[in-house]
Amino acid sequence: MSAAAEVKRITTATLQKMKASGQKISMLTAYDFSFARMIDGAGIDVILVGDSASNVMAGHETTLPITLDQMIYHAQSVVRGAKRCLIVVDMPFGSYQGNGDIALASAIRIMKETGAHAVKMEGGEEILDSVKRIISAGIPIMAHLGLTPQSIYKFGSYNVRAKEEAEANKLKKDALLLQDAGCFAVVLEKIPATLAREVSDSLEVPTIGIGAGAHCDGQVLVMHDMLGINTEFRPRFLRQYLNIHEQVTGAVKQYIDDVKSGGFPTDAESY
Ligand code: KIV
Repeated sequence: MSAAAEVKRITTATLQKMKASGQKISMLTAYDFSFARMIDGAGIDVILVGDSASNVMAGHETTLPITLDQMIYHAQSVVRGAKRCLIVVDMPFGSYQGNGDIALASAIRIMKETGAHAVKMEGGEEILDSVKRIISAGIPIMAHLGLTPQSIYKFGSYNVRAKEEAEANKLKKDALLLQDAGCFAVVLEKIPATLAREVSDSLEVPTIGIGAGAHCDGQVLVMHDMLGINTEFRPRFLRQYLNIHEQVTGAVKQYIDDVKSGGFPTDAESY
């Protein structure tokens, strides 16, 4: 058996089994080949090709501007780098809202052109028709409730969602509707930990939290935030594991000094 054939791919069924056996699910975003290879090699369960690429890769203020073509480009790069984890691709703003035909066509493009394994969509009852159309085509969907950044101009801020009873009740109802429609997991973003626990206990499919406390079945962070590439964003839920910004700046300063002083290259670095 070749080395490539030995890699056992994580599937949506694996995540289901992990929830059933109480094993936590680890998920991180990635947007390119090199980071996907490192993150996959480290043993992550799921890579999300997030539309946060709009922020951390392209420098936009929100996730709204990124296009379907751009998401497909990022996802193709990630798929080439990651051999073991499940790869989920965000459907960008405008590629699914309000029209089941467009939603299905967008999801099919993602699956066909990237080789990824599933798509993620933000919203509850409002997008249920699109969710059902996509699932009926055999495409797995990870749902996303709570703070849904594609609706930032409706919310008006990135504050914690569903603190009030009415919004919490809607979220609980949406989670069940999405599970019944066939979604294989639900991201819960920036909601109270007690609510996330209640939702996680009520669902058979796994919940993946970001700013939703410890009782979710898994956790996700944006790679640029947890590695300290992007150091300006420091919400309370974020644990920063590295300060790559500092390390890269230090290395680049050293390189500049070496070039300016004539210390690079040496004879050993020349032909
Ligand atoms: O786009 C993204 O990175 C996300 C995560 C924050 C869950 O949707």
